[in-house]
Amino acid sequence: MKVRKAIIPAAGLGTRFLPATKALAKEMLPIVDKPTIQFIVEEAKASGIEDILIITGKNKRSIEDHFDSVPELEQNLAAKNKTQLLKVVQDTTDLGVNLYYSRQSHPNGLGDAVAQARSFIADEPFIVMLGDDLMSDKVPLTKQLIEDYENTHASTIAVMQVPKSEVSKYGVIDPEGEQAPGLYNVKRFVEKPKVEDAPSNLAIIGRYLLTPEIFDLLDTQKPGAGNEIQLTDAIDRMNETQRVFAHEFKGDRFDVGNKFGYVKTNIQYGLTHPEVKDELKPYIIELAKELQAEDKKAPKKD
Ligand code: G1P
Repeated sequence: MKVRKAIIPAAGLGTRFLPATKALAKEMLPIVDKPTIQFIVEEAKASGIEDILIITGKNKRSIEDHFDSVPELEQNLAAKNKTQLLKVVQDTTDLGVNLYYSRQSHPNGLGDAVAQARSFIADEPFIVMLGDDLMSDKVPLTKQLIEDYENTHASTIAVMQVPKSEVSKYGVIDPEGEQAPGLYNVKRFVEKPKVEDAPSNLAIIGRYLLTPEIFDLLDTQKPGAGNEIQLTDAIDRMNETQRVFAHEFKGDRFDVGNKFGYVKTNIQYGLTHPEVKDELKPYIIELAKELQAEDKKAPKKD
């Protein structure tokens, strides 16, 4: 069966970015000039996804507004011959994918968010895309997972090597040999293990290809880490009755879910942005020199 549908859970409160996220959806925070959620939708489209369900919550109206048309703005830009900007605006509505929204009133973890999508997904394999992780590779990561599925017809979870000291922020796999290069059989999926208990440093990053059997498991899933319904726990149970693979991602991942990652991503993207890159690069070089000079002057702390 073709993989056509994706879910983007976007009901989180975004407390790491307060006060910016007091009235604004964190998914709308821009990387230079594009909201993070637009990168996710574009990855889905580039991977052949046709229908996307965005699971929203309080303070998320701006997401729906962003992907809606604004005729007055378009007329204004057309009248002023600002054709390039007009295209940028039109690209947010002419996405080539259908967007649907569902509002989650009592968010209770990622597993609970995915469970909301049951009737939208019905009986098809589907993708889950987390908005905090922006991915960059020659072939979009979502498409890489779909290509695996076309060979295996099994659920496949994207993972990536992370420093061992950081594993407790993630779901982590216990790999058990490779089915194909970079495609692991998995013994166990563990959500947010302690560093000393982590079975590996292969962490789940925000892309999942799941078969619809996950929904029955989510319905009976007991709260796990953080007392929330964890998708990882339901995946671990699914792995007992059908094969679930882990696909090691080798491209670049930008974690925009924390402040430092967000700032770094803005710099990286700025360095490729046609309107910014020519000024940004010499600025960074100058800044680095100043910072180095400051560092040399500062008394050494030890
Ligand atoms: C979620 C998942 C976790 C995964 C992570 C990737 O955690 O529960 O398994 O490793 O996303 O970003 P969260 O970051 O929402 O705490």
